[in-house]
Amino acid sequence: MKIVNTLFLLLFVSLSASAAEPEGVPPPPEPYCQWEMVNYAIPEPLCGLQGEAARGEKIVSDAAKGNCLACHELPIQSVEAYGTIAPPLSGIANRLGEAQLRLRVVDSRHLNPNSIMPGFYRDPSLINRPGKSYVGRTFLAAQDVEDVIAYLVTLK
Ligand code: HEC
Repeated sequence: MKIVNTLFLLLFVSLSASAAEPEGVPPPPEPYCQWEMVNYAIPEPLCGLQGEAARGEKIVSDAAKGNCLACHELPIQSVEAYGTIAPPLSGIANRLGEAQLRLRVVDSRHLNPNSIMPGFYRDPSLINRPGKSYVGRTFLAAQDVEDVIAYLVTLK
């Protein structure tokens, strides 16, 4: 009988342990800032934040963040391989202004509903995220998006 009790105790302990938050759970999502599209562009910075190009350059090549290199060529010296299924972004600032770039990074499906490019700041209520801890989250934080924009506008 005693051994059965011990087994039940063990089962209970392991069940309550697995119900606890797994390690590495990201902090709660930041409040989502609404943005406005004007003439197929987003003129105002997300949440009124200011971007920094040096941080943006890291984000575009970080596989856990923007991972833009999976699809786009970017003029980054240390990078040997990049995806070619999307247009190269070298010189992109000669063709697109800051506000136009912002819409493309935030949610390119406003331009092309079939775009395979992730909407990095798409309204989270429109995203079906299977992992519970990701519900309500954008793919990139507003600050990350502004940093990426600050970097893209330097690509002349
Ligand atoms: C899964 C592939 C994929 C990823 C990842 C991706 N993009 Fe794109 N992107 C595309 C495709 C494809 C297009 C072409 C337009 C379209 O089909 O929507 C595009 C278009 C663009 C454009 C407009 C280019 C032009 O010539 O008009 C910009 C700017 C851009 N992406 C920036 C980014 C940035 C910055 C990142 C990372 C934060 C990124 N993309 C990540 C696939 C991707």
